[in-house]
Amino acid sequence: MARKVIIAGNWKMNKTASEGKALVEDLKPLVADVAAAEIVVCPPFTSIAAVVEAAGGSNIKVGSQNIHWAESGAFTGEISAEMLKETGVEYAIIGHSERRQYFGETDATVNQRIKAALAAGLIPIVCIGETLEEREGGKTEKVLFSQLEGGLADITPEQMAGIVLAYEPVWAIGTGKTATPEMAEETHNYIRCQLKDMFGEAAEAVRIQYGGSMKPENSAELVAQRNIDGGLIGGASLKAGSFAELIKNAIA
Ligand code: 13P
Repeated sequence: MARKVIIAGNWKMNKTASEGKALVEDLKPLVADVAAAEIVVCPPFTSIAAVVEAAGGSNIKVGSQNIHWAESGAFTGEISAEMLKETGVEYAIIGHSERRQYFGETDATVNQRIKAALAAGLIPIVCIGETLEEREGGKTEKVLFSQLEGGLADITPEQMAGIVLAYEPVWAIGTGKTATPEMAEETHNYIRCQLKDMFGEAAEAVRIQYGGSMKPENSAELVAQRNIDGGLIGGASLKAGSFAELIKNAIA
């Protein structure tokens, strides 16, 4: 089954509204002719409105970096799916390792956030991945299995087909250390096999991004792998030139 490549920039806590707008204005002409990949940028909440406006009418889509599971209520500092939907975002990153590490995110809260995103018609980009200690301890598959099992509990095969997964080995994030294409493919293949066990044929439709020091120099060989369907990019998405080059190399 042909899966359309999806490349998303996770800006993390970078770019004010005016900086985000400028980045998208610079990016638009550079990727205007890209039809073979879905392009997404995920700014901080405060920059979403400006970025949605700047991206209007282009092939650049917008996502959030988190989402709360409740519809509304006493959750100081949180943002609901409905609030996000109204801003014009179409995607929501869920369960990024930085949220798991610093903000107490668990597989159970990931699961609640996925359900809220789906209910609002947003496409979840669900992050999973092991730490260096877990990889070196031979626990990678065990960790991924429990993240999939817990995070995707009660999700139907129909819903799963529309969810994007991002495999981000924590040791490769922001470190310059990328998993080799072979190592990444082996893990992506494991993830897809687990998805097949859990969701049957729908697993073939699920796009699995790789994330962790993906850059223009390595995007082609990573995305060329059978089970790698795009990337979730941090550092290299913060400049229009490098992000555009990374995208073009990935689909060349
Ligand atoms: P880097 O591309 O900076 O390694 O970040 C990856 C990431 O965490 C994307 O979500």
